[in-house]
Amino acid sequence: MHNKHILLGIGGGISAYKTPDLIRKLVDKGHQVIPVLTDAGSKFVTSQTLAAVSNNRVRQDLWDEEAERSMGHIELGRWADVLLIAPATADLIARMASGHANDLLATVHLATQAQVVVAPAMNQAMWLHVATQRNISQLKADGVHVIGPEHGDQACGDVGPGRMTEPSSIVEQLDDMFAEESSLAGLKVLVTTGPTREAIDPVRYISNSSSGRQGLAIAKAAHRQGATVTLICGPMDLPTPSGIERVNVQTAAEMKDAVMAKIAQSDIFFSVAAVSDYRPAVQSPTKIKKHAQNSDSMTLQLEQTDDILQMVTSLESRPFTVGFAAETNNVLEFGREKLQRKNLDAIVINDVSNESIGFESENNAVTVVTRHGEFNLPMQSKDDIARRVVAAIAAIRLEPLHV
Ligand code: CTP
Repeated sequence: MHNKHILLGIGGGISAYKTPDLIRKLVDKGHQVIPVLTDAGSKFVTSQTLAAVSNNRVRQDLWDEEAERSMGHIELGRWADVLLIAPATADLIARMASGHANDLLATVHLATQAQVVVAPAMNQAMWLHVATQRNISQLKADGVHVIGPEHGDQACGDVGPGRMTEPSSIVEQLDDMFAEESSLAGLKVLVTTGPTREAIDPVRYISNSSSGRQGLAIAKAAHRQGATVTLICGPMDLPTPSGIERVNVQTAAEMKDAVMAKIAQSDIFFSVAAVSDYRPAVQSPTKIKKHAQNSDSMTLQLEQTDDILQMVTSLESRPFTVGFAAETNNVLEFGREKLQRKNLDAIVINDVSNESIGFESENNAVTVVTRHGEFNLPMQSKDDIARRVVAAIAAIRLEPLHV
């Protein structure tokens, strides 16, 4: 039993009729549920039913003086361990993505520090619309956990993605989330991500096409699992959810300094960054001019950068250290060799020659090799890969012999 405080936001979709069943299942698990009904939601389920099954007063109106006196909307946000929105309609998702506060539910969404979970439900064309997909990506980037939607027959007669996940499955997925939440409680996790940029002159540089997504996903997963997380980022545009400390760097040397400044206080180090192995030996202070060259070819002298990961594993007192290997050939063999050579506790290996799981893709598939065994995570979103990798590392760190 996790005994969580769950605020259940109910949007205006036909599947709102399933929310009394959802509440009953949550209450049976020992959770307390306060329903927050939108005006549109109230067209599909009555507040009397919700009050009866939750055994709590249903909140609907931001301007209800009496309800606000007993628990104001800011307190409601503080009370919650989880804000679960089911069904989350296209309109609610859009309002959440752009930070509206035009009804009680949207206001509580802005006011709460709780983990936000949405279970979308809508017509398949509405779900697939580019605007909805853009909004849902924004919510994911903001750290919102998305459950479903499922594919199947829809109330409107269409067939496709957009059905709300069944209450029993929502409850199971919440349970998994609660179990994971505390696996890294009290620990400090350091993550590097993104590429580095090594200047040739003031306008040119050497870099690579790492998007930084996988490391960001690792940082989010570690944060969700209770850790205090610092993310050291090479140049990348992706936003970092609140609650994660972010340090921006450009070069391998800056990344090394940022890691070394934090490493002594870190319990686990995930080295996800695609650090440049080489940098120009000399950096021109002014733009290199083509017409000033005497020949039609040019040689750039490169020198090696420090291997940050190896510096960390050479420390006398080192954190549990996880490397990442992006390989294009002999993928497993090279990855396993890196575990030994860099003296790692674990390595996450992926094949970047496959474009559907490569650097710039949303998805990934990896093999995790530890000193006690190996396992594969088949193709799935980088967020799901991250959750599983972090959960596995949390378990291995505590009980290495059982893996
Ligand atoms: N890494 C690092 N510092 C570097 C280079 C790599 O910390 N200067 C880390 C990466 O963050 C990753 C791991 O080392 O976790 C593997 O990186 P990779 O570039 O695949 O390994 P290399 O040592 O460069 O080996 P190779 O060039 O033979 O593939």
